[in-house]
Amino acid sequence: MLLLKKITLIRGNRRILDELNLSVKPAEIHSILGVNGTGKSTLAYAIMGLPEYKIQSGKILFNGKDIAALNMTERAKLGITLGWQEPVRFEGITVYEYLMLAQRDKQEKIMPAECLTKVGLDEKRYLFREIDDTLSGGERKRIELAAILAQRPKLAILDEPDSGIDALSFEQIKDVILTLAANGSSVILITHHEQMAAIADRSSVLCAGKILKTSIPEEVTRFFRNHCQPCTHVNQPEIEVVKND
Ligand SMILES: Nc1ncnc2c1ncn2[C@@H]1O[C@H](COP(=O)(O)OP(=O)(O)O)[C@@H](O)[C@H]1O
Ligand SMILES: [Mg+2]
Repeated sequence: MLLLKKITLIRGNRRILDELNLSVKPAEIHSILGVNGTGKSTLAYAIMGLPEYKIQSGKILFNGKDIAALNMTERAKLGITLGWQEPVRFEGITVYEYLMLAQRDKQEKIMPAECLTKVGLDEKRYLFREIDDTLSGGERKRIELAAILAQRPKLAILDEPDSGIDALSFEQIKDVILTLAANGSSVILITHHEQMAAIADRSSVLCAGKILKTSIPEEVTRFFRNHCQPCTHVNQPEIEVVKND
């Protein structure tokens, strides 16, 4: 359903993504394992189409259509969602309304209370609370994840759901991701933890902007342990960009 063909993203004189290839199947959980600074978030933003993350070359095929020229809103309309960025503020509406809004195009609704429980928020305390500045960053992130559960996107990109302040427990994250996949979403699960990568159907190792290996998680984590720890690439001198003249 998602096919990345030789995507390259250049910043200054560095190839942050370097002719990267990746495929994600329908309803597949695909984990991306990589050390810090190797390009994981950049990859997430490039797939989502954030303004500063337009690729310089390559193809981003989403259900057969090249979406590289589409902006973030257009990609969101196709069913691509990015989690764990700073959650969007829907000031003034309640959590309940927000979680209903997230699934307005779905005939079968998932009860907002159910989504909140999955992300570890007590429905009694949060369901009818207004979304405003009194919510902490961690609470906002959880509500955003609950909205992804309600929304059931075609592709959910989760950037290190296991890190940051007030992160969900491993079991909670696993439950959320398995629920997403069970409801038909493909999930790109970005992490630098082997244990988290292991819950996927397939896993890929990202190193210095390239996918080095894609396989079942057991093989990929073994590869990661043998080749990426300690990392010998990311902190090396900058990779020269080949100039075409
Ligand atoms: N806006 C930017 N300008 C220049 N370099 C950047 C920018 N954003 C990220 N980078 C660099 O790109 C590399 C990959 O970053 P990132 O995708 O955040 O890695 P990861 O998520 O794997 O930790 C890092 O070396 C980082 O310093
Ligand atoms: Mg990152």
